[in-house]
Order: sequence, then C-alpha cells, then structure tokens
Amino acid sequence: NKVVLAYSGGLDTSIIIAWLKENYGCEVIAVAADVGQKDELEGLEQKALNTGADKFYCLDLKHDFVYDFIFPAIKANAKYEDKYLLGTSLARPIIGKKLVEIAKKEGADAICHGCTGKGNDQVRFELAIKAFAPDMPIIAPWRVWDIKSRDDEIDYAEARKIPLKINRETNYSKDKNLWHLSHEGLDLENPANEPKYDEILELGVSPEKAPDTPTYITITFEKGIPVALNGEKMDGVALIEKLNEIGGANGIGIIDMVENRLVGMKSRGVYETPGGTILYKAHADLEEITLDKYTQHFKQKVSLELADILYNGYWYSPLTEAINAFVDKTQENVNGDVKLKLYKGNIMEAGMTSPTTLYSEQTASFGEDDDYNQADSAGFINLYGLPIKMIAKAKEHKL
Ligand code: ARG
Ligand code: SIN
Repeated sequence: NKVVLAYSGGLDTSIIIAWLKENYGCEVIAVAADVGQKDELEGLEQKALNTGADKFYCLDLKHDFVYDFIFPAIKANAKYEDKYLLGTSLARPIIGKKLVEIAKKEGADAICHGCTGKGNDQVRFELAIKAFAPDMPIIAPWRVWDIKSRDDEIDYAEARKIPLKINRETNYSKDKNLWHLSHEGLDLENPANEPKYDEILELGVSPEKAPDTPTYITITFEKGIPVALNGEKMDGVALIEKLNEIGGANGIGIIDMVENRLVGMKSRGVYETPGGTILYKAHADLEEITLDKYTQHFKQKVSLELADILYNGYWYSPLTEAINAFVDKTQENVNGDVKLKLYKGNIMEAGMTSPTTLYSEQTASFGEDDDYNQADSAGFINLYGLPIKMIAKAKEHKL
C-alpha cells in the first residue's frame, strides 16, 4: 500500500516517514507544497529520499495560493478576531486539495499529515481532503503515537539512525509562506512575556531598528486586486514578495495575539505579515472612497464571517462561494491608487485617487452645492429624532 504524506522537511514529518513504514509497511510518497516558504524548500527532495521516502513531489502552488486564496482574503478584508491575517489558514485548503490530487494519481490508500491533535491545522487539512475525497482514510500520527515531545522525536530518530541535522535545543513552532510567518510555543506560551523580537523576527526588523526616514509607496488596485507597485505592473506573487521586503525593513506587520482556536483553547502567537498588512490597509482605505455606505457596512459583517470560515477550515463550502460572489460584486468599483507612508512600524495614509470614486468634494465642502440642500436637514432631523423626542416626552408625562 501507499500513503501520501504532507511533507515539510521538519523533524515531525521526517520521523513520520519512518513511523509510517514501521507501522503500515507502506510506500511513502512525500509531497511538499511550495507556498513561498523559500529557503525551507532547499534540498528537500534529497532529504525526503534520504530519510526513507519512496517518491517525492514538490508542487509550486504560489500562483494559485495568491490568486485563489490571498486575493479573496484581501478583497474581503478578512481578519480573524479582527487581528490575524490568516497566513496559515489560507494555505491549508490549497495544500489539502493538492494532496488529494496526488493521492488519486498515485492510487494511494491514505493521506497522512504531521499536525498535532491540539491545533487548527489538522481540521483545515482534513476538511479540505474530505471535500475532494470524502472516503479517503487520514492518518494523523500525533493523535495516535506515543511520542509526546521534541525530545521523544529526536530519540526516535536517533534509535533508527534517521539522518537528520537536529539539535536538542528547542524551537518555536513556525509556519512560513509567502503571506506570513507564525511563531508559537516556548516563552510565548505565557502571555505575560514580551516576545524576544530580536531572536524571533525573520521577515523584517522591529520598529526601533527601522530607518529614520519614511518610505513612500503607491499601490494600484483594479477590482479590489493589487496590480501595480509605484506605477509598475506586477504579478501578484512578485508584488507580495516586494511588499514583504519593504514592509519588513520598516518594521511593519508584527502582530502579537491570543486567539481562540477552533478546538477551544486560547493560544498565543506572534505573526509577521509585512506585505499583507500594507495590502489590507491600502485596500480598506480605497474602499472608503469607492464603496457606498451601506455596502461598506454590510461588507464588514461579511468579512468577519469569511475570516471565521477560513480560520475554521470551511473554505470548500457553498457559503464560501456565496460570500465570495458578494464580495466580488462589491469590488467592481474598487479601483485606484493608494499612497502610503511607511515609518517605524506605522502605515500612514498619504493620499488616494480613484477613477470610480464616490467621494464628492463639492458635497463634502462647506460651500455651494447642487445635491445637498441644507434646508432639507431640518425635516430629516425631525423624523430621525422622533423616537428620542417621544422618550423625553414620556419621561415628562406629556404623552
Ligand atoms: N495559530 C495560527 C493558525 O491557526 C498559526 C498556526 C501555525 N501552524 C503551524 N503548523 N505552525 O492559523
Ligand atoms: C499544530 O498543532 O499542528 C499547529 C498549530 C495549529 O494547528 O493550530
């Protein structure tokens, strides 16, 4: 038999190869998904084969990750608990779907992943797998084996002479892709501790180490999608990479939060999302002049809903399709240029223009106006304020 393993090259998935062979006597097909984790992908094929995999795939998912997941999240301004830009959550459904494709192609009997039994990722992977292969058996070693810690894992690897460059010194639990880098565990598990940013940060610097002069950038959006940086048309992958560099250098997008996991516990994480933070801000700014009031307000509620869906792994669902259709409709009007000033962890608005703006300088100004008659306000306020007036009268026993 054959098992397809979601493979990252880390300690967990490396010993899982040996564990699968020992427990199931199966062929192991290691599948790495390139969602922009860069250096972590180097030498992965050799590593997989050296540690016992029978076959290796590396799938370049960067383009689809950006256009099918990150852009819909930007269009919706989807932030989990109004804070987390969903870096890990966005990548899981596409990886899960591709694992199924490989499993079907290879005629595999099961799909295996290295997520713990305490987190969100197990749910996201497994719901994505169920969406495309409803009866596919899933193996989650962390939920069944006796290994309880990193030290146990290293013992397991050493006893089997699995060739790994490992040290006993512990590491944060990290997840890296084009959109973000997450850090969890160790001293972060106590929310009283300030994160050791000098040790942790990889995508950029802390604000105090950022340059003393601001950086100006202009992002162009078409139908809610970023298409150019400083006037230069760019593909989505390149644009995000570039914004990660610029944002990281300016100390932008460092988020420290205690979130509510789907599985019930609270957990603390530090997220680096430099480019994403800039794009969310620029996009939300542009919506201020391009969406009408009621669409803008309604969309805020939908944003929270989509964030929950993404976080909880329910991406492949009719509700997601319906919400995305609504969001896409609203984005037809979200076009224009947003100029921002980046300075020591801050993003300041520096002006925006839109060919489809709903902003009327004439109506907003105190001067003459064709559309707004100040005399209309008297009647408007009388009716709008009627309930308040009646309450006051009731208190005075005048009704
Ligand atoms: N807490 C975040 C989330 O649920 C990040 C998870 C990071 N995953 C990981 N395998 N290190 O989306
Ligand atoms: C894990 O537990 O595998 C990572 C963290 C998470 O899934 O939330």
